[in-house]
Parts: sequence; structure tokens; C-alpha cells
Amino acid sequence: MAKICVIGSSSMDLVVTSSRRPGAGETVLGDSFKTVPGGKGANQAVAAARLGADVSMIGRVGDDAFGTAILNNFKANGVNTQNVKPVTHMESGTAHIVLAEGDNSIVVVEAANREVTPAYVDEAAEVIQCADIVLIQQEIPEETVVRVSEICAQSGTPLLLNPAPARKLPDEVIDKAAYITPNEHEAVILFQGMTPAEALRKYPNKLFITEGSNGVRYFDGEQEIVVPTYKVEPVDTTGAGDTFNAAFAVALAEGKPLQDSIRFANRAASLSVTKFGAQGGMPTRDEVEESLK
Ligand code: RIB
Ligand code: NA
Repeated sequence: MAKICVIGSSSMDLVVTSSRRPGAGETVLGDSFKTVPGGKGANQAVAAARLGADVSMIGRVGDDAFGTAILNNFKANGVNTQNVKPVTHMESGTAHIVLAEGDNSIVVVEAANREVTPAYVDEAAEVIQCADIVLIQQEIPEETVVRVSEICAQSGTPLLLNPAPARKLPDEVIDKAAYITPNEHEAVILFQGMTPAEALRKYPNKLFITEGSNGVRYFDGEQEIVVPTYKVEPVDTTGAGDTFNAAFAVALAEGKPLQDSIRFANRAASLSVTKFGAQGGMPTRDEVEESLK
């Protein structure tokens, strides 16, 4: 069983569906409102657990009803929550999502996720050191991402950095990460002054640019490779990137070859978009394997 440690955000997604998103100063009538578990860290932890990994989450929730619901959701999905501690007198992180015109727009309020500090992850350093692979994103403080990259480098634990949402990071983090998975927009911000092609060449077999329905692009040391994704009727693409990253991590931790790992991750991500909610469509191991046949 692959041992995966996820360090990141846990939030409640407050999702409105509407035929149109309002412009500044405008009010529109929406169609529905739902509250579902989300946050990039939590999404990746849940996706990895559904794919059969042994997952430990390092994160924080608020001391509110959302926090309780987030913890229950982790448990229902078999994620170890020993290092998901509530922050007193603080709200849980929330993501305010509008699904309209075939795409989402999201405002994230980090709240308790800001308390995923370097000192907090230091207390759980052993979990990081013992993992087969560590997954991290950017809905937590930058200093924490730096600290985790140091812990991983010291213990030789491979770090998969999903640099979302877009933010520039110190070069040392880029150097220490084993795998980096930006989308095209995040790649531009992360590798300022370089074209995507130049960045890919600089980091062979390490930088994987996800291009949505076009697939995943990387440089294998000799040539650029594009691993195509699978065509599906998307219902909600929220969390597709999280499913991709989790599945990629699981496959890599199991020792699958690179291209097979990407194919597995593309398949899992494509299944995830066929249902509502970030975690709604995240597939089980059997579902991915069945659809790869
Ligand atoms: O990656 C998707 C996630 O990003 C959503 O679940 C939402 O919480 C946002 O932060
Ligand atoms: Na979905």
C-alpha cells in the first residue's frame, strides 16, 4: 500500500450554480446552492485514499460546524486525521464557488488553513519522513511549503508540488521538489522569464504542465511528450487537478513508470469531472482500472 502524506488546506466549498456570473455591482438569480467538502489538500487526500493509498493528512480546521463536517468526511474516506487539529476561535477555510457558463470562479478564504505553519508541520515531521511520497499545494503559507521541502530533502522523501493556486515560489523549493505539476497559467507565474518550453527543458521528468482537456506535457530529456487525456462530458471540473495530482502520486509511489502514472492520473481526473462537487466524482481504484481496460 502506498503511504502518502498530504500537507495542505481543508475547506468547505459553498457552491452556487447559475446560468450567468454577475459582473461588478450586478445581481443575478442563481439556480442552486450546495455545501460540499473541498480545499486542495483535503481533495488530494480523499482522492488518494479512494485510490487505495494509506493517507495521512496534515492540516487544520476551524472550531465550527464546517470543521466537524470536514473531519467526518476525512474519516468516512479513510484518511488519517491525527494531524488535522482544530484551531480555537477560528473559522474553517471556505471556498466560494460560482459554477456558471461552463466554468467555475472561486474565492478562497484561508482562515484556519493559515495555521498550517512551519512549526505545526515540524510536529508531524515523522509522518512526512516516513511517507513514500508527499503532496503539497499552495493554499497554505509559503513558509510552510519551504519548510516541507526542506524536511523532504533531508529525509530523501519525494515531494510532489502542485503549485496551485498560482504563486511565485523560492527557487530552493523548485530545486528540492521531485515533481511539479502546474497548469499553463501557474507555469507562467512560477517560471517567470522562461517560456513553458524552456522551463520543461530545464526540468526533465520533473515538470509536468497540465493542459486540461489537451493532456499533460513534459520533457523526457530528449523530447517533449504529451500524454493525452480522455474525452468525457464534464459536469463540474472543480477538483479535477486535485484528482490528477493524487492519482499521479499514488501511481508513482507504487513504482509505476512515468507515462503509465500520467495515464492513470488522467483517467482518474477525467472520471472526477463527470459528477458535481470537487470530491463528488473522485473515482475508486476499481473504477479507474475498469475504465483503463
Ligand atoms: O482545487 C479545487 C479546490 O480549490 C476546491 O475544492 C476549492 O476548495 C478550491 O480551493
Ligand atoms: Na467533480
